Amino acid sequence: MTPSTPFFEPTVKLAGGRRMPLLGFGTWQLRGSAARSAAGWALEAGYRHLDTATGYSNEAQVGAALRDSGLARSDVFVTTKMPPDHVGRERRTLEESLAALGTDYVDLWLVHWPPNGTAGVSSWEVFVQARDEGLARSIGVSNYSLDQIDELTEATGSTPEVNQIKWSPLLFDAAQLAAHRDRGVVVEGYSPFRAGTLDHPTLVEIADRHGKLPAQVVVRWHIQREVVVIPKSAQRERIVSNADVFDFELSADELTAIDSLGGS
Ligand SMILES: NC(=O)c1ccc[n+]([C@@H]2O[C@H](COP(=O)([O-])OP(=O)(O)OC[C@H]3O[C@@H](n4cnc5c(N)ncnc54)[C@H](OP(=O)(O)O)[C@@H]3O)[C@@H](O)[C@H]2O)c1
Repeated sequence: MTPSTPFFEPTVKLAGGRRMPLLGFGTWQLRGSAARSAAGWALEAGYRHLDTATGYSNEAQVGAALRDSGLARSDVFVTTKMPPDHVGRERRTLEESLAALGTDYVDLWLVHWPPNGTAGVSSWEVFVQARDEGLARSIGVSNYSLDQIDELTEATGSTPEVNQIKWSPLLFDAAQLAAHRDRGVVVEGYSPFRAGTLDHPTLVEIADRHGKLPAQVVVRWHIQREVVVIPKSAQRERIVSNADVFDFELSADELTAIDSLGGS
């Protein structure tokens, strides 16, 4: 496979100082050879950020795709996540992720869900230690409330750098975004298509105006709003198309029109 970088990869700065590509490739529900092929197509198409998790059972395939690509490890941002029922064996879980991925470190390690609905302070202490040791370059959470994030900060002095939460035009919430930013937490959206709609007339109209697809408008809207977006597809054509979003720009009015779908 010939590595190519046809896309300009905009990034967002994390509180720890490292940069995270705003576009990534989601891999939930991709298993076995389908996961390896899809992650490989994504890297070939220019994605430089892969999102996996212990719970997706595809870390080995994602790691294999990374090696197949011929890209340097440092050129690709890799996220994995610890399942909430792994409390008490956090470190072993990370070591197993690294072994499966075939890498010495992950760029971002997330607590996948609040353990037993709590902030999970004891787990977070292990996350902080893993970051201090360089096994995870950045650490964060997923599906956390702001109160739970504050609890981690108060208990450990370390604020999660990222909160990966469900996000789409229909879920846009300016106050929630601002509250994360006030805390220095980058919002990473998941399920950009599944949690929204691709046939809303506003999205269709904006897409037609730019000669793009509604899915591309949704991805572009995340990027311009500096919300990390990780669309998933098993289909090569869609993987390429979902990342083909760097040849147009949404106007301020268009961004606002898409924001206003939130809660609709
Ligand atoms: N932290 C968490 O708890 C959590 C939860 C959910 C997801 N995630 C992460 O976020 C990623 C993305 O979320 P997601 O997988 O739930 O959903 P998504 O990316 O919003 O949507 C994926 C679905 O949309 C279809 N699709 C992809 N591109 C399309 C296009 N251009 N036009 C029409 N349909 C298209 C896909 O079908 P095909 O595959 O057939 O193309 C698939 O059914 C996940 O893969 C995972 O990495 C995290």
